[in-house]
Amino acid sequence: MGDKLLHNHYEAIASSYDSAWGPLNPPELIRDVVTHLGLDRQSRVLDIGAGTGLVAARIAAELRPIHPIICLDPNHSMIQRMQQDPHLIAVRGDVEHLTDALCGKYASFTAVLMKDVIHHSYDIAQALAQVLQVVAPGGTVLVVMTPRLISYPLFSAARELYALRQPDPASITASIISFGARVYRSAGRYDISLPASRYADMIRNRFLSVLSRFSNQEIQHGISELGINSWEHVILHMELDFLRIELDFSRAHSATQRVVPLA
Ligand SMILES: C[S@@+](CC[C@H](N)C(=O)[O-])C[C@H]1O[C@@H](n2cnc3c(N)ncnc32)[C@H](O)[C@@H]1O
Repeated sequence: MGDKLLHNHYEAIASSYDSAWGPLNPPELIRDVVTHLGLDRQSRVLDIGAGTGLVAARIAAELRPIHPIICLDPNHSMIQRMQQDPHLIAVRGDVEHLTDALCGKYASFTAVLMKDVIHHSYDIAQALAQVLQVVAPGGTVLVVMTPRLISYPLFSAARELYALRQPDPASITASIISFGARVYRSAGRYDISLPASRYADMIRNRFLSVLSRFSNQEIQHGISELGINSWEHVILHMELDFLRIELDFSRAHSATQRVVPLA
């Protein structure tokens, strides 16, 4: 499974995950996910990198789906905190070994969500190849990711490191097209207001994995650099890229034979 630092990061933030990320998944964003995936009560949904099931639970509240949403995540602490919701089923595993993790028990999903997770994949091409294998004919995959130039307040060193580490949607799109799938790219913007002290706590608690690359002292300097302490509220202008993937089964290549390494 993925790198140790990442694993430790999610072990450490699992208990504060929902309080940090709750406001970062506002109703408008959930509705956009539902619309992009074309979800209805009959949909068979897989949420990859579901974490604590925060997003899946909000989708379930909106849809009241007939079939449970399968929530895949490799991190034990995140899964342990999975929302107590009869509409969710937790499965432990990483996206690169998705078909093994699902053990053939769950397949043929009409909708697959990957929100804020593709940047964690240690092999994006392999991950996409695995995902496309579990999509039903006519199904849709939605990758939701933050642009490299992250739009909300972060101190300069974190912003720079984020830009270096975040994958480029264009190279992901190229890989998807090589599998014979179609990709439709769009953007969403959500303005979220938070008390400044709460946002400072989120940075201290390293709500973004990139922040776990910085020491406590560097984080404290970063908060001072931003000047948050003198603010009352922070408005996060959250911008997201949506890649909606539709697999054309008449043209699709065998995904496993066409793993194209990404730059
Ligand atoms: C930022 S959280 C996103 C959680 C949820 N999708 C959301 O939007 O609230 C990223 C999640 O991806 C998971 N993750 C990390 N590496 C992964 C991998 N290789 N395959 C699947 N999930 C992974 C982490 O354990 C974590 O729960």
